[in-house]
Amino acid sequence: CIKPVDISKNKAIKFGSYLIKMWFASPYPAEYSERPILYLCEYCFKYLNSEYALSRHQKKCPIKVPPGNEIYRDNNISIFEVDGRKNKIYCQNLCLLSKLFLDHKTLYYDVEPFLFYIMTLPKDKGYKFIGYFSKEKQCESGYNLSCLLTLPIYQRKGYGNALIEFSYMLSQVEGKLGSPEKPLSDFGLRSYRKYWRYKVLKELAELYLAEDELNIEEISRKTSITENDVWCTLYNCGILRKVKTHKAIGHHRSITNSVDLLFIDEKDNDFLINKKYELYIDPEKIISYVQD
Ligand code: COA
Repeated sequence: CIKPVDISKNKAIKFGSYLIKMWFASPYPAEYSERPILYLCEYCFKYLNSEYALSRHQKKCPIKVPPGNEIYRDNNISIFEVDGRKNKIYCQNLCLLSKLFLDHKTLYYDVEPFLFYIMTLPKDKGYKFIGYFSKEKQCESGYNLSCLLTLPIYQRKGYGNALIEFSYMLSQVEGKLGSPEKPLSDFGLRSYRKYWRYKVLKELAELYLAEDELNIEEISRKTSITENDVWCTLYNCGILRKVKTHKAIGHHRSITNSVDLLFIDEKDNDFLINKKYELYIDPEKIISYVQD
């Protein structure tokens, strides 16, 4: 497990009952960012400079539910779609929060062209924020995700993967292919590589079991992962290189060799039966999703 560069050794945010160490600086106004602890409302992300101010705010904070439409729910989680134009302050505060865990993020204030997908855990007193991703409403470059965050207290539990899965599920509903905005952070790249690998190898295995021919276009259509990302995944798995040698890869060619190679590698085989990656998102549980 690698750790991000820690540029704010002694600084932390108070978030709900947690004290979370900051990873990077975020452009909060100077009177807030100079203090060792920044107090954040866990529901609306408003920033305050003392425990007292936070407790006063929390007594009257009207936002116990993200200010948007609940578009997905299952037993464990709820996802809300929040419009950056309609809920500017909420989304700006969220961007400031996410900058604390990202070194290269530049979007803080210009939130209007974006939709924010907020993943929460429904609890008695409100919806606890787990993480989110943002997405440009009209994206000419075909990105289906702009910024992605799981709060550190929830990381490595599969939520990042579930957010990525959800972004592709929206692309499926739209009948489009998608890819995340670049550059990806180190953890973002690791998470995507793992997701793509799982999805692409699963499709490859299904083609193999059906004794079908390899068809990158079909894998791409079924997963909404762009053909380029499918090719890169096959390359990173070592399949593309090896099969090229055997002249077996390419559109409408046999995949027997590639999948045999796939199953020889026990790590990949384990990967295909790793249930962690199907725990959270179920397409049947989308409540509503209105396309532009
Ligand atoms: N070290 C090594 N590998 C990591 C990692 C870490 N700290 N975090 C994620 N990964 C890789 C692992 O392969 C992991 O699978 P595993 O736990 O089975 O080994 C996989 O990514 C997915 O993990 P998951 O639990 O689904 O993701 P997450 O909830 O931890 O969230 C991020 C992943 C990227 C959203 C989260 O680390 C984060 O918010 N980072 C800060 C912001 C950021 O960098 N966002 C991406 C912008 S492009």
